[in-house]
Amino acid sequence: MSLKLWALQLLIVEISNIFSMNFNITDTKYLAQLTCFKEMQLCIEKAEGVYLYDSNGKQYIDLLSGIAVNVLGHKHPAIVKAISEQAQKYLHLNVYGEFIQKETVMLARKLADLLPPHLSKSFFVNSGSEAIEGAIKLSKLFTKKHKIISFKGSYHGSTLSTLNLLGFEEFKRPFRPLIPFYESMEFNHLNSVDAIDENTACVVMELIQTASGMNIVNPDFLKAVRDKCSETGALLIFDEIQTSPGRLGFMFGFELFGISPDILCLAKGIGGGLPLGVFISSDKIMSSLENHHPLLGHATTFGGNPLCCSASLATLNTLQDSKLIAAVSQKHEIFCQNLKHKYIKNIHGKGLLLAVELESKELNKKFISKVIQAGIITNSFLFNENSFAIIPPVIINENEIILACYQVTKVLNQL
Ligand SMILES: Cc1ncc(COP(=O)(O)O)c(C=O)c1O
Repeated sequence: MSLKLWALQLLIVEISNIFSMNFNITDTKYLAQLTCFKEMQLCIEKAEGVYLYDSNGKQYIDLLSGIAVNVLGHKHPAIVKAISEQAQKYLHLNVYGEFIQKETVMLARKLADLLPPHLSKSFFVNSGSEAIEGAIKLSKLFTKKHKIISFKGSYHGSTLSTLNLLGFEEFKRPFRPLIPFYESMEFNHLNSVDAIDENTACVVMELIQTASGMNIVNPDFLKAVRDKCSETGALLIFDEIQTSPGRLGFMFGFELFGISPDILCLAKGIGGGLPLGVFISSDKIMSSLENHHPLLGHATTFGGNPLCCSASLATLNTLQDSKLIAAVSQKHEIFCQNLKHKYIKNIHGKGLLLAVELESKELNKKFISKVIQAGIITNSFLFNENSFAIIPPVIINENEIILACYQVTKVLNQL
């Protein structure tokens, strides 16, 4: 049989398999996946507001937002409209500055308007890891120094460079040797500040260490880090990839703490459900990247993609023009008041970025499997298996919170 004929026959068999329903959509063996909750095999058909719907029509309340992504929930009309309009115009041109792309320019302008004057220039990328990588490269270029400091308990991404920053040795060990001159210091320990010296290019930190189960930065520690960076010339980078926009009751999380960074990294929620990351700094600092020779000191094909920027603009405009951000602290309280149970040891976090700590990791794993069957989507944390996440879309309303808490409590009663 000729190769062509054989290929044609194979194609016909594949197509007929699909049409005769021999193709099993839940057969994910061709996909490399990482979850420890694979047995659930939820096949989501659609999502709207705070709800997901599976192929049997069963409804789930989303308490995860795709890990802090869907700030405005699913299928938000403003985002759908913005994406649809942009898709009618064009999807991708060229992002290095050759073309003026309206949505991208407008988003950079919007961010500059919302942020303090020294955070005025945006460099768009595709993900959180890339934003952090870009910020580190920028700080090396600007300071001409080499030492990078991060903190134990932190997560800043999975690429090789961001792995250097990771605050958990057992996750790093298989990939060693890593890049030199990265130092991991104790979080919230004032002594750690001594590591910031004349050789330090930057300090990368989260204001709330999410992967550790919402470990909040201590204000005195934050101030000490800020002061030492200013004193030595090291740049302070805030990883606000989960804490912004809107999630802590402010557009940007650092507003809650009253201390601002030299470089701000955003991703996840800023893309309104599409892949977008950004690192933002001052004109002066960013010029060391813009004027770097050879050119393209940091480059990415899709960074600032107009479709993603249109979704981002719609997200920021909606947050700004609504009362959603102002309502975050009240929603936080409703969760805390309605999540009282003998198995709940503590609730950590701020705003709508919460970790509910149970008595053990075994209990938590059992709880997560069962609560999903009860129509609640949550998960545990990379470095904290005792706790489950409450990171809902900020559009969640009082009734939805009460219903979610009722289901959580019911499932806890069954354990
Ligand atoms: C705080 C934080 N920083 C960085 C990242 C990396 O972002 P991405 O997965 O988009 O590369 C994440 C992702 O979970 C994160 O939570």
